[in-house]
Amino acid sequence: MSTKLTAIRGMNDILPEQMQYWHWLEEQLRKLAKRYGYQEIRTPIVEKTELFARSIGEVTDIVEKEMYTFLDRNQDSLSLRPEGTASCVRAAIEHGLLHNQTQRLWYFGPLFRHERPQKGRYRQFYQFGVEALGFPGADIEAEMIFITAAILRALGLENSVTLQINSLGTAESRAAHRSALVAYFTQHKDQLDEDSVRRLQSNPLRILDSKNPALKELIASAPMLTDFLSTEAETHFALLRQLLTDAGIPYVVNPLLVRGLDYYTGMVFEWVTEQLGAQGTVCAGGRYDNLIAELGGPATPAVGFAMGCERIIELLQMLHPDQIPAQTTDAYCIMVGEQAERIGLVLVEQLRQALPNLCIISNCGGGNFKSQFKRADKSGAAIALILGEDELRENKIAIKFLREQQEQLSLSRSDVISYLSEWLNRRHV
Ligand code: HAM
Repeated sequence: MSTKLTAIRGMNDILPEQMQYWHWLEEQLRKLAKRYGYQEIRTPIVEKTELFARSIGEVTDIVEKEMYTFLDRNQDSLSLRPEGTASCVRAAIEHGLLHNQTQRLWYFGPLFRHERPQKGRYRQFYQFGVEALGFPGADIEAEMIFITAAILRALGLENSVTLQINSLGTAESRAAHRSALVAYFTQHKDQLDEDSVRRLQSNPLRILDSKNPALKELIASAPMLTDFLSTEAETHFALLRQLLTDAGIPYVVNPLLVRGLDYYTGMVFEWVTEQLGAQGTVCAGGRYDNLIAELGGPATPAVGFAMGCERIIELLQMLHPDQIPAQTTDAYCIMVGEQAERIGLVLVEQLRQALPNLCIISNCGGGNFKSQFKRADKSGAAIALILGEDELRENKIAIKFLREQQEQLSLSRSDVISYLSEWLNRRHV
């Protein structure tokens, strides 16, 4: 017997029974993005490795250990995209979308990171992301948070998440903070773990992001970036906080929030839930004013976020299992006998053409009445159209109500369209 093939660890099949959640989520996301004036962009799943190394940062977990990188047949180093911002910016530069104009963009699709799989952390996962390119102010930062808050509200999750924000300040304030951090951690080098020692020179800010409980106290007493913010960055951040307060959006300032990608400057934020265990960040983002110039575009301020869709769906399934409408089928056509099948298949096709809202399944693969009724029931259809020998002889079609107490009907075939049309109107009010 040949061995059974399975999916790659950390990469999930999304089965039909879960699709209603995905469709519903995607519909809400599209609707909201449109309402805020954002346009969709789709970029390739594979990019040159250099794009991610230059944007996310050489000394980040993602680039150092999590990318799916390979040489293609031309010996070019390519990577499956581990996030969407770099691709979005690359596309905007490449197609001249930033010449004397701003862009409000969104995307939805799979990302790939070779992380250790666990609940809420996968090697292929989906993000809904938003990027606003060309806006320098606190106004657009507030807009990012308004959009995320509106999404979470539309999904009924607003009471299950909290908003954390921080400001990473300007390049000068980060440089001053960095020196203070290096001095502090060097002084306590004996307490650091291996990863943190390595980061001490390359990326000391990331030590603050360490999940190692042994470092918790040391990190808590480390110099905070907030103490190094320039007056300008302070004022900018204060305005954002004021806008959030004015809009009635509660938030917590978390000075330890530094994010795992190097391109951030200024404000960063995360929406976090306690309901999913260790992987509780459902949405995260921030400002990245230097990235576009670093990737060869015109100096352009930018801000964005991405939402982890698996985590959102896990929350929805846990908290609102009945909120999402299941996919429904209106009718199932039962046809018994060769002649009935031939006439029935064509009739169902005529019904589909005449009634664009009708969802109807034809019984394919034969079977007696009993087995076809079983399939009709399993399909979830509300009614069965029945075409057997009796109906053929009388040029009729029977309609049986599968979910409600109602007498079976016998209609002449020419009346079926008008009957179903009225029935659909009643059904979908
Ligand atoms: P990120 O924090 O790396 O940011 O990812 C954003 C969200 O994607 C996370 O908060 C989480 O919900 C989800 N996520 C990340 N990794 C995984 C995983 N392995 N499994 C499941 N879900 C995951 C970014 O990707 C930035 N590009 C966000 C951004 C856009 N910043 C500015 N614009």
